[in-house]
Amino acid sequence: MDAKILAVANQKGGVGKTTTAITLGGALARMGKGVLLLDLDPHACATLHARIYPENVQLSLYDLFLAEETSWFRLWRSIIHPGALCTMDVAPSCIRLSELEVDFRERRAKGSVLAHSLTTIRDKYDYIVLDCPPHVGILLVNALVAADLLIIPIQTDFLALHGLKLLFDTLHTLHKALGRPILYRAVPTMYDKRAKACTRVLELMRRKMGNSKFATIIGVDTHFREASALGGTIYDIDPHSRGALAYAALAEEVVHLW
Ligand SMILES: Nc1ncnc2c1ncn2[C@@H]1O[C@H](COP(=O)(O)OP(=O)(O)OP(=O)(O)O)[C@@H](O)[C@H]1O
Ligand SMILES: [Mg+2]
Repeated sequence: MDAKILAVANQKGGVGKTTTAITLGGALARMGKGVLLLDLDPHACATLHARIYPENVQLSLYDLFLAEETSWFRLWRSIIHPGALCTMDVAPSCIRLSELEVDFRERRAKGSVLAHSLTTIRDKYDYIVLDCPPHVGILLVNALVAADLLIIPIQTDFLALHGLKLLFDTLHTLHKALGRPILYRAVPTMYDKRAKACTRVLELMRRKMGNSKFATIIGVDTHFREASALGGTIYDIDPHSRGALAYAALAEEVVHLW
């Protein structure tokens, strides 16, 4: 069966996108699913988290975006680092991805390059998780066009919903262009029930997003930082920690969507 493609995106920075992509991917992998993690952020945080360093990256997703269609399948095999992170395969980013906006100026059908190239490897995985950069641009559009589900991590903090309109405007434009809506679900992150601002934002999310929100709430957990320092996932640190259990619950919700 073809993999389901999960794009993790929010143009706001530092809301837990990379943590969600890595930990949800890790939770799915622990359920026995075949997972490929794609780092679409030129800052390469997920790549570095997987201990893949720029000096060891011969080929990255940047090369794939620029390649001829006929070489996609061969390129994927060279780009993907098998089992790089907690049994997940990882396709690394590189800083040159930030040049794609300029490189793609004349490119036709530039929003669907990733979607098309993924068709050549989609049957090899159960889930392909895309870690998106914190801005709206050609990389985000490629991720959204490819995605079966957009997961929007929303930090339960002051101004959390501010700026989301830009993402929803992009979704709306793509809906019209593709002739189909893009399925999305928000997930509250870094929730601290003792903080008034957190409970207020969560209440606001419940009111505004209703069914478009996962039931799972991701709480604050210091194990996430430890996991990135060690180059693993929170499941390598403490699989019974609150953060680990929350993302396991999120993975259950994701699996039951289809
Ligand atoms: N639930 C959590 N509890 C505690 N710390 C967290 C949690 N989620 C993420 N963090 C920490 O918050 C910081 C930002 O998280 P992350 O890198 O996942 O955000 P991001 O949205 O990918 O950021 P960017 O927009 O820069 O790509 C990281 O140091 C991460 O370890
Ligand atoms: Mg990130």
